[in-house]
Amino acid sequence: MDTVNVSFIGAGNLANAMHYPSLHEFEDVNLVAICDLNPERLHRTADKYGVERRYTDYQQMLKEVDCEAVYVIMPPHHLYDLVITCLEAGKHVFIEKPPGVTSEQTRQMARWAERHHCLSMVGFNRRFIPMLTKAKAEVEARGPLVQGVATFYKHYFAGPYYKGAVDILTSDAIHAVDALRWMGGEPKKVASSVRYLEATYANSFNALLEFENGAVGVLLGNWIVGARVHTFEMHAKGISAFLNPDNKGYIYREGRNEPEIWDTCEVAGSRERHKTYGFFQENRHFIDCVKTGQLPQTHFGDAAKTMELVDLIYAKAF
Ligand SMILES: NC(=O)c1ccc[n+]([C@@H]2O[C@H](COP(=O)([O-])OP(=O)(O)OC[C@H]3O[C@@H](n4cnc5c(N)ncnc54)[C@H](O)[C@@H]3O)[C@@H](O)[C@H]2O)c1
Repeated sequence: MDTVNVSFIGAGNLANAMHYPSLHEFEDVNLVAICDLNPERLHRTADKYGVERRYTDYQQMLKEVDCEAVYVIMPPHHLYDLVITCLEAGKHVFIEKPPGVTSEQTRQMARWAERHHCLSMVGFNRRFIPMLTKAKAEVEARGPLVQGVATFYKHYFAGPYYKGAVDILTSDAIHAVDALRWMGGEPKKVASSVRYLEATYANSFNALLEFENGAVGVLLGNWIVGARVHTFEMHAKGISAFLNPDNKGYIYREGRNEPEIWDTCEVAGSRERHKTYGFFQENRHFIDCVKTGQLPQTHFGDAAKTMELVDLIYAKAF
């Protein structure tokens, strides 16, 4: 397959900020059709990317348009039926996080993808951020990870997302949970504290994980604090990486107090957000997988494990 024909369901904020610009740059992708319930968003996006075939009914689009892959980019409580319909039509499917509202939905989507021989991918973009992939490679070159940390802080008081449809950990702090699985593998022990700080909904998420290889992972998340800060640490024998992919990374080696300092734009070779923050790279990975038939790193079955870890963090909370 030289080129991949892609259809899109959803012409909202995130899709326009990250996915359309990424795919538009790929010479081996044809954006063949767009569907959105909102005609204004539909035409604005389709005009911008020169897409002629425009739909407000995704079922009609699936019947009329020939494509290999469909991006379904919309809030998680609207995803399920659309994803299953695309899989039944034999399309490879890319969705954003969270992959549905419950881990059971994610598991079912994974089963449907397998049954219909479709590839699938969830946009856990942190795994594709150039600063983080570079640090992971350097840390692992020194030996196995011994300790990993993912923090995610926000100043946000609007309650659970989408007027309460999805809790904060599942919807958003899940990025930090997924990053810990990416760093350390599958956890064999989990202890956690989930707090309701001046609120009737959970807004603080803390966990201590022990991975199968004995390494330890730490999650720190809090939605009522100073501002959005989202950082990562990876440690192995003789190397420590303290990483803020919005800004700088500090790499300490062999006891030297002077760190190597990485700038996120320099590492990404770009100042554009969709490239510094892993969106461009995750899209490239998905398209390459569609071309080669390889299972994407964050396929629905893998994403179900991250959703199950979210469940475990709630279940183990003391
Ligand atoms: N990876 C990240 O860092 C990140 C950041 C922000 C948002 N997200 C995720 O991206 C997803 C989309 O968020 P968004 O802010 O772009 O949403 P949005 O509400 O701006 O856009 C969704 C679009 O989907 C359309 N839509 C809904 N149902 C439809 C249907 N049945 N048929 C056709 N169109 C339909 C809506 O009209 C809307 O235009 C969410 O899951 C969110 O969690 C991820």
